Amino acid sequence: MTVLVTGGAGYIGSHTVVALQDAGQQVVIFDDLSNSSERAVDAVRALVGSDVAFVRGDAADTDMVSQTIVEYGVDAIVHFAAFKSVSESMERPMDYFVNNMGSLFGVVKAMGLTGTRRLIFSSSCAVYGEPKDVPVTEASATTAASPYGWTKLHGEQFLEQMALAGELDVMILRYFNPVGAHPSGAIGEDPRGMSSNLVPLLMQVALGHHDRLRVFGSDYNTPDGSPVRDYLHVLDLAEGHVAALAALSSGSGCTTLNIGTGRGYSVLQVVAAAEQVLQRRIPLELVDRRPGDVACIWAQTDLAADVLGWTATRDLTKMLEDHWRWQKAHPDGFGAL
Ligand SMILES: NC(=O)c1ccc[n+]([C@@H]2O[C@H](COP(=O)([O-])OP(=O)(O)OC[C@H]3O[C@@H](n4cnc5c(N)ncnc54)[C@H](O)[C@@H]3O)[C@@H](O)[C@H]2O)c1
Repeated sequence: MTVLVTGGAGYIGSHTVVALQDAGQQVVIFDDLSNSSERAVDAVRALVGSDVAFVRGDAADTDMVSQTIVEYGVDAIVHFAAFKSVSESMERPMDYFVNNMGSLFGVVKAMGLTGTRRLIFSSSCAVYGEPKDVPVTEASATTAASPYGWTKLHGEQFLEQMALAGELDVMILRYFNPVGAHPSGAIGEDPRGMSSNLVPLLMQVALGHHDRLRVFGSDYNTPDGSPVRDYLHVLDLAEGHVAALAALSSGSGCTTLNIGTGRGYSVLQVVAAAEQVLQRRIPLELVDRRPGDVACIWAQTDLAADVLGWTATRDLTKMLEDHWRWQKAHPDGFGAL
């Protein structure tokens, strides 16, 4: 199978490309490098030992996506390309709607033009907004607490309608909070500018790039007052995509799955675990809540286990060890190499 991976130079995309190649699939990376570097593509090529194809372009450009599908004989698409920061989306909602909806429309239109049917869509636990009960199941009520979350929810609704109309076979994967890196330390999370995610920020403090970690909110209704999330090793997530592609057959319509571990950790618990792994103190500052953040969420993962035969296997220590290996080897990401 030849798989087009939009956003394949990014964090989850690059790990998924490696997992797909390891599973014997041919991959074409399609990315505009708006939040990544071509060096990630080079690192992926070195890791898998083959010249993975790379096309630089905007996924909203239907003609370019169509041409790429035809040129490489693409059978299925994994669509990661999107902006992903909840907090940034609160400041730049227009950019988020234009890019996240535009890239999805571009890809789905190209699929229609070329007769490609199989699509995996990167959704997010952000579609549960502030859940009433945890763990959340795929049947839990959906809403969003940020423009980013709305782009994912609208994307899901659009794909459900397209599948209902018989145009697509789609798996919507609702990721929880990916952390970690490939155990080689060769690829990892490398955002342009400042990350808004806990683990990259924490590692930057450990490297001395910042003097303290700001913990957004210490008065949530959680055991220690800090937000609780379902952290998931990025390699488990990548392997979930391999399983999802294998399970996505013709005429299967639309399936929506939570992809998490089923276990929540608070921000302060993650910091304590990181202090053990890194063998150093992480200075903290407790600051106000961040707009768009929810208090507490983790996944019910039984459906993914049933449908995909997949469960996450790597624990928080492994996530932090692997993330740290990448971060130590690339203190400034790929940019400074
Ligand atoms: N990382 C998370 O915490 C998380 C959680 C849930 C869902 N997701 C979703 O997973 C996907 C991948 O996230 P990530 O963490 O790897 O982010 P990332 O920013 O590292 O990767 C996204 C990639 O898409 C590219 N891109 C963005 N817009 C594009 C466009 N219009 N055309 C072509 N390329 C474009 C970027 O250059 C980048 O390489 C996103 O859709 C994100 O919303 C991420």
